[in-house]
Amino acid sequence: MDQSGRVPARLADLDLARSPKHVAIILDGNGRWAKARGLSRSDGHKAGGEALTRMLDVFIKLNIPVVSLYAFSTENWKRPKTEVNGLWRLMNQFFESRLEKCMELGVRVMASGDIRQIPAKNRERIQRVIDLTRKHKRLTANFCVNYGAQAEILRAADSIVQERLQLAEQGETRKARKPIGKAEFEKRLYTAGLPDVDLLVRPGGESRVSNFLLWQIAYAEIYVTDALWPDFTEQNLVDALWWFQNRNRRFGGL
Ligand code: FPP
Repeated sequence: MDQSGRVPARLADLDLARSPKHVAIILDGNGRWAKARGLSRSDGHKAGGEALTRMLDVFIKLNIPVVSLYAFSTENWKRPKTEVNGLWRLMNQFFESRLEKCMELGVRVMASGDIRQIPAKNRERIQRVIDLTRKHKRLTANFCVNYGAQAEILRAADSIVQERLQLAEQGETRKARKPIGKAEFEKRLYTAGLPDVDLLVRPGGESRVSNFLLWQIAYAEIYVTDALWPDFTEQNLVDALWWFQNRNRRFGGL
């Protein structure tokens, strides 16, 4: 069952000119997927990585220009060491083996999160993929790694405080006291330059936002489906987009 609560939607019924400009996905359900098959949690994450590889083509096919993918949260460090290490190893393999695919498809890879704190190997690999794909325009894939939205917002606020203190020290008191503007704040978020999230998709059936892109989802539609991330297919995204296209988005108006 999913939020559309109806028979599967048809790709032909979607108006792809009205696809969401930014889809954020909480990649949830890898552990349950593995458990149901008597496999290890790491096997579940591996299957999650394969689902992601498949879905890159689908995002492009469905005319979605930006996707944000919650791959590792600031809270995921609390998991057993073997699972955490396995996840970083898997991400390294992913970025190594999928670079060619990103080049072929025209995917621009970017990262959101405190990547200073992730294993050096991962940091170097991600940075390399970011550098090699930075000119691509077909799809921006924003990998959220060591990411937490509250930390992101505090970081942006802190950067403004530091700048204002400096202005005050230089005697620029009027500028130092100016109310903080939305654009001034947003350019200090990891997602600077990306459109706001239109659609947040959560596989795995939980109705939580889990500290993901809290600022950016202000007006997002939230779509929850019981499908587990490793099982996620084009059909699941077509269903989500059909549901999205039939929402009446008012952005606070009538
Ligand atoms: C949550 O599922 C998933 C994660 C913490 C990791 C997401 C990672 C991947 C999809 C692996 C591939 C990522 C990249 C970038 C290659 P869970 O383990 O909490 O599942 P559960 O709720 O069923 O236990």
